[in-house]
Amino acid sequence: MSLHIGARREDVAPKVLLPGDPLRARFIAREFLEDAVEVNAVRGMYGYTGTYRGERVTVQGTGMGMPSMAIYATELMREYGVRTLIRVGTCGAFLPEVRLRDVVLAQGASTDSNMNRLHFRGIDYAPLADFSLLYAAYRTARRLALPVHVGGVFTTDRFYGDADKEAYEKKLAEHGTLCVEMETAALYTIAKAYGARALSILTVSDHLVTREETTAEERERTFTAMIRLALETLVS
Ligand code: HPA
Repeated sequence: MSLHIGARREDVAPKVLLPGDPLRARFIAREFLEDAVEVNAVRGMYGYTGTYRGERVTVQGTGMGMPSMAIYATELMREYGVRTLIRVGTCGAFLPEVRLRDVVLAQGASTDSNMNRLHFRGIDYAPLADFSLLYAAYRTARRLALPVHVGGVFTTDRFYGDADKEAYEKKLAEHGTLCVEMETAALYTIAKAYGARALSILTVSDHLVTREETTAEERERTFTAMIRLALETLVS
């Protein structure tokens, strides 16, 4: 057991899928894994371990935002020896060519968070995806004929912003940033610190240029395609 995860060490697999929403973790375990058992329920942040294509996989909720992601990612690597982590989440698109329901593979993550500045004593570290996972996910997405983009994302501490935030998001978009979400910069940084592999796979749930949003039914469908992509990448 770790501070925030109640599982025994042997109950967590070396390969982990990380949805933000713990109920999504439950859904993934029920719909995609075989012989899934609940391994964590501390704070309702459910975790399950089962098998996918015969390989043991854990799916663990992380909550929203970098601090919450940092807690679960750190404990999974430090206390449970996890070596491969794939976040599955949603993002808001910044660019017109990134469409609603498209898949984004986060190559790197800019951030307005102070977490890495504190960690690196003011230096702007560049949090990057593991290339082997990124490459495998890209190839798998093409094989599954999913609309996929690879590039930089923006990890924000503020879901609800102001004119100031809109201004710097515009600047980030002008510098090729694909979309905004809230966890990737933490995941990538901490994974590197533990010598583990990490990737964020995101689907576009809302569009900050066109102001479109997905319906619940569309989110369900695109989410399913993303989970398939993430699991195929995890066991590849
Ligand atoms: N902002 C931050 N995180 C998000 C968004 C957004 O618009 N959409 C999905 N995750």
